[in-house]
Amino acid sequence: MIVVLIGPPGCGKGTQAKRLQQTRGWPQISTGDMLRRAVEQKSKLGLEARAFMDRGALVPDSVVIGLIEDRIQEKDCQRGFVLDGFPRTEPQATALDSVLSAKGKKLNHAFYFDISNDELLARLTGRRTCGQCGSVFHIKNNPPVSVGKCDKCSGILVQRDDDTESVIGKRLEVYREQTAPLVEFYKRQNILDTIDASLDASTVEDEIKKYL
Ligand code: AP5
Repeated sequence: MIVVLIGPPGCGKGTQAKRLQQTRGWPQISTGDMLRRAVEQKSKLGLEARAFMDRGALVPDSVVIGLIEDRIQEKDCQRGFVLDGFPRTEPQATALDSVLSAKGKKLNHAFYFDISNDELLARLTGRRTCGQCGSVFHIKNNPPVSVGKCDKCSGILVQRDDDTESVIGKRLEVYREQTAPLVEFYKRQNILDTIDASLDASTVEDEIKKYL
């Protein structure tokens, strides 16, 4: 099963991809997480990507397509995977179709996470991420047991550099211009299902399960 989660920043793609990974065993493939790791490691890719990410712009297609091509060759992807944050442009979507078809595979589902801008802003400004294990919390919707500390590994919770109001505005604009057209792209392929992403995380998970 190969699944794509599409939606604006903060709509809950990462949260649901992790749940699918836990319940179905399909690895979560998040280009955002892969790029953030490269930034932390100060690799050549990370240095190149950082300039785009810090201002809320997309990293060039050629870079992310290469990352995905390599990742989905790995053994853990043979039984399926969940793409979280990829594709984000039409060239990325077309490249994904070609890579899969060359392997005799195809995309089974694209879920579009529908949600209002007000809710997105509240989710992004309240998000806190563990600097050590990457677990994601929210100061109101999903607070850690101890303020500022990860429930899983006791790591320090931090705010992502791109979760400031000015960068969020840019990310939403980029989403509208470059990623939103993918909703029509997957509608044309007859594999798109729309999810009400404003519901609580467990209800969203149940909605996704109904389609799967
Ligand atoms: P990326 O990391 O992919 O960011 P994003 O798409 O902007 O999405 P987010 O991670 O911000 O949000 P999410 O939808 O995963 O929400 P989450 O589950 O965390 O990309 C970052 C950057 O990398 C991009 O700007 C770009 O520069 C670059 N990049 C990445 N991929 C690229 C690509 N393919 N091409 C080019 N560039 C690329 O939830 C958010 C918060 O809400 C959390 O606090 C969570 O606890 C809470 N929450 C989640 N679900 C619910 C719910 N149902 N109810 C209440 N609260 C909820």
